[in-house]
Amino acid sequence: MYVCLCNPFTDKDVANVLRDASVRKTTAHVYKACAGGQKPCCGSCLCVIKDMVAHHQNQPDMLAAE
Ligand code: FES
Repeated sequence: MYVCLCNPFTDKDVANVLRDASVRKTTAHVYKACAGGQKPCCGSCLCVIKDMVAHHQNQPDMLAAE
């Protein structure tokens, strides 16, 4: 499922970035990693990314098992 349409990337892209130990687990850093360094345009996807980051921080083992 596409998370961001302005700089297109999917929920799988976000999950892959969340597994990457070299990326800080903040909404801004995860977005930048998923969008190839681009900044958000409309920002409507940031709530979804923020929720995925929070979920990852609370249950990191679940994403690692996917
Ligand atoms: S949908 Fe992600 S910045 Fe617009």
